[in-house]
Amino acid sequence: MIAKKGGIATALAIVLCMPSMSLADSRNGERIFLNRCAMCHGNDVKGTGPLADKSNPPTPDLTTPEFKKRLLDYPGVIVSSVILRPNGDLIPRTLRENGVKLPPFAWTVKDFRDLNEYLTDRIARAK
Ligand code: HEC
Repeated sequence: MIAKKGGIATALAIVLCMPSMSLADSRNGERIFLNRCAMCHGNDVKGTGPLADKSNPPTPDLTTPEFKKRLLDYPGVIVSSVILRPNGDLIPRTLRENGVKLPPFAWTVKDFRDLNEYLTDRIARAK
């Protein structure tokens, strides 16, 4: 977890300013997704995880044409949804209310890049 605002801005800037993803490690991205996101977003990224319907709003399908367009218009949306938490404590609260404990995780810039590449690729290939 990045605690300081400067750290968040720097992490986001670095992620967004490095379009060359050749160093990204997609197995690390996959591991993070499966451990920390798939319980809601589903292994298929279509919002089919066991907790998908436990929140209001429910977990969205990230493979729709609408979300693909959103990702094209705003390539930082994946990373910023994790860092900035636009919906406040919705996600931690949903996990808590359903008894799902995630171990704390010390995100590195590489983790954000790997996750971003993994998900962007999954979304691009999803039908
Ligand atoms: C407790 C369930 C839950 C978990 C865990 C979760 N999400 Fe989500 N996610 C949601 C819900 C609900 C929304 C829709 C509300 C929102 O945007 O906050 C969402 C929205 C999103 C969006 C779309 C944001 C936008 O602005 O369109 C992305 C991208 C996303 N999540 C990525 C992730 C990633 C990556 C992880 C893992 C690090 C993750 N989520 C973990 C439930 C979850």
